[in-house]
Amino acid sequence: MRLLSLFLCLFALPLAACGAKAATAGDDASASGDAAAADAAADIAVDVTATAPPKGYTAKFRATLANKAPAAQDEGERLFFEATWGTENGGEYPPAAFLVALWKNDPATWGEQFSQFGFFVDPGDDLPIGLKRGDVNPALVHDTCSACHTAKLADGRIWAGMPAEYLAFGAFKVALHQAWVKAGNKPYASDAQLAQWAATQPGSLDISGANDPSVFNDFPVYCDLHKMQHLNILGSSIDLRTEVYLSIFGLVDPLPFPPQDAAMAVVGYFGVLDTPQAPSPTDGAAVARGRTVFQTAKCVSCHRDDLSNDTADWLAGPEKLPGDDPAHPNGTIATEGSFLASANGSSGGSGPGPGMAALLGFMADNDLVQYVHNPTGYVANNLHGLWTTAPYLHNGSVPTLPDLLKAAKDRPATFVRGGYTVDTTKQGMSNVGHEFGSTLSDSDKADLVAYLLSL
Ligand code: HEC
Ligand code: HEC
Repeated sequence: MRLLSLFLCLFALPLAACGAKAATAGDDASASGDAAAADAAADIAVDVTATAPPKGYTAKFRATLANKAPAAQDEGERLFFEATWGTENGGEYPPAAFLVALWKNDPATWGEQFSQFGFFVDPGDDLPIGLKRGDVNPALVHDTCSACHTAKLADGRIWAGMPAEYLAFGAFKVALHQAWVKAGNKPYASDAQLAQWAATQPGSLDISGANDPSVFNDFPVYCDLHKMQHLNILGSSIDLRTEVYLSIFGLVDPLPFPPQDAAMAVVGYFGVLDTPQAPSPTDGAAVARGRTVFQTAKCVSCHRDDLSNDTADWLAGPEKLPGDDPAHPNGTIATEGSFLASANGSSGGSGPGPGMAALLGFMADNDLVQYVHNPTGYVANNLHGLWTTAPYLHNGSVPTLPDLLKAAKDRPATFVRGGYTVDTTKQGMSNVGHEFGSTLSDSDKADLVAYLLSL
């Protein structure tokens, strides 16, 4: 049962970004809401007149990508940016023609290709990176893997695999739904779903069902994923292949799983992704001193130097270093616990969805079951790319590294992220725990921050 919940959590991730799917599946909508959602999906399916331009992964776009893959990984890169894996038929978005007309007719509200909401312009297409016409039905759209997993760095470069820290997916979905209904169409999301989207900060997902307590999770950094043995913040996949399969499955559910060679092309592509080099530090001596502090303050006991990573237990008490408490050999961190609780089933979750049987069958068929761990805590992240991935912790509740090195009571209760006010007093957003380093001297902290920002 616990395993079942874990699967749910894993594959609910991308699904949770898709409100209409939740509504049509009936977990959060009333019976009449379901009917309305089904009607809307039907309307979307017939309201298709546009002739689609060629698919959006263009030579022009590739030229803007700072970390282009080597030629051998071209296909994985293409799928990452372009593939909707057939999910466009899920009725989660208005038709492509409606979306394109929206931003073209009112760029002040939407920005070019929805850039007002944090999407990045694809210079060869009329839809942005991460939101593409369907593989199966090009008149419809869906988000692709790159939506949440591609960043624009401060210098303007587009970097595949870094988190889209300011992508306001929730606000975008609310605005889109409003525009669709205002144009005389039937709603395709329930009120509860709309409220959940409205409450979601940029760069983050709320993976709970619309009627469950919120469980926020920031978009992660891709770095040396092929070396890791604990993927995702719960460490529940023990290799990259498993994590990619489950991610694709989450997006695809309940459609047939794509051919193995397509999935493996994405796995191969992820294996070459790395984080962008931090800008040269202004004070190399501080960085060197900070590296020493990182060791003496025992950060290395959890955040390994060799880029492997490990789990720490989550516990609602004060944090402990590994080895300090036999009951918690990995140490404890005491950060916000909703995500872990939800993975372990204590929040109830939204129950098995229509794809569960297919997922379990898929896991068995593909020899994946033994590659999945039950989580006991959050993974001690590899710390690369920190210079461009604020805010911190899995729920994005701490705005800066100096703030993370303060006792939780001294961290900011609210701060602004991409124009959205993050309120850490809200359900699922608590900034407690991980107070390691908070008793260091001011100069040690400054050195430690210089080191962390150089990674
Ligand atoms: C709507 C946003 C969104 C989309 C779309 C999305 N992901 Fe993710 N992805 C996330 C979030 C949030 C996490 C962090 C989950 C966690 O830590 O439990 C994540 C985690 C991952 C990880 C683990 C990274 C790590 O450091 O351990 C991989 C690999 C991944 N996703 C691959 C994919 C693939 C492949 C697709 C497309 C099939 C995809 N994602 C689509 C939001 C998204
Ligand atoms: C007992 C294990 C443990 C120790 C010791 C530890 N950490 Fe962590 N650290 C974690 C875990 C687990 C997380 C993820 C927590 C979460 O997201 O809720 C984390 C998260 C972080 C993050 C945020 C990463 C991100 O991308 O959001 C930073 C930065 C960090 N740790 C730095 C440090 C520093 C600096 C020290 C030493 C002063 C330290 N850690 C000591 C386990 C530990």
